[in-house]
Amino acid sequence: MTTRAARPFEVRQATRKDAETIAKMFQESWPIAWETAEKVRMQFDILDLAQGQVLVAAIGDKVVGHCEFIPSMEPPPYGNYGCVEALEVHRGYRRMGIGTALVEQAMDICRKAGLERFETVPEDERSEALYAKVGMRTIERFLSLSLALREVPPVDGVVVKDELGTKERPWETMHHAIGHMFCASYPWSSAFHRKVAGSEGYEKVFAQHIARGEAEGVVFFDRAHLHIFVKPQETEEAVKAFFQYGAFQVLKQKRASIYVNVPFALADTVRAVPGVFQSEGHFLYRMSTDL
Ligand SMILES: CC(C)(COP(=O)(O)OP(=O)(O)OC[C@H]1O[C@@H](n2cnc3c(N)ncnc32)[C@H](O)[C@@H]1OP(=O)(O)O)[C@@H](O)C(=O)NCCC(=O)NCCS
Repeated sequence: MTTRAARPFEVRQATRKDAETIAKMFQESWPIAWETAEKVRMQFDILDLAQGQVLVAAIGDKVVGHCEFIPSMEPPPYGNYGCVEALEVHRGYRRMGIGTALVEQAMDICRKAGLERFETVPEDERSEALYAKVGMRTIERFLSLSLALREVPPVDGVVVKDELGTKERPWETMHHAIGHMFCASYPWSSAFHRKVAGSEGYEKVFAQHIARGEAEGVVFFDRAHLHIFVKPQETEEAVKAFFQYGAFQVLKQKRASIYVNVPFALADTVRAVPGVFQSEGHFLYRMSTDL
């Protein structure tokens, strides 16, 4: 009989008590983001709102890796899935299998919770290789576009039905037609939590339930990305009108640039809106596996 060699690290659920040591890992490894325990605690608050979880890999008291993942329930074709929002292994502890162990444990938790798939959008070739190793495959390419806005004309006939906030979850009944990358509950929870907390720059965050004739949708600006949700049956024409409406609203707030993540099929629709000019663009790869 063979036994598996004991790992030199353990993977476990993180708690708020880990905030200091998670922050320390980031300070030692990548001193740009999450550099304070206070920021880590805010991230825990955001993940609570998004119903996400955090795993850490630890060697004794030292945190050497962390993974955030979120469940999402959306209309087809997305359905019910778990999504990796963040994965980081301490620079001094890479290539020891820690990233793989974190992702495998996240997958296991999602499988036991009854989710059907596990997804992510890898940041680079290293993480792409890791996700491929645990069985994930590229199933869709997106375009991430930087857009400049200049005199976008208003759209006739749009009625605002409601101003939305933290509590609403439009992705559960509508298609995330423009903006899909990670599941919507993350940017939504992050933007509204920071807006309510008064974080700098987040006063521009808005979400509105809108209608135009029979068409219905939600336009959401998370301070950087513009997102459009539409009822599953809506046409490309409705998506275009709602996008133009959203771009017009962003300009009204004296913000002249946005980002959008669009499936290939909608990229030309977005670029055809008057007053919208592409300044940059790159590909994003959605990776997925059945659970
Ligand atoms: C990507 C990252 C999480 C990998 O963590 P890790 O603990 O080193 O990964 P593992 O040891 O489990 O490696 C698993 C596989 O990933 C791939 N991989 C990991 N690092 C790699 C590298 N530097 N170059 C090429 N492939 C790499 C390999 O296929 C590896 O399998 P192998 O060691 O048998 O060849 C880590 O490099 C990291 O934190 N990077 C910075 C943040 C980041 O990019 N996060 C991902 C966001 S989607």
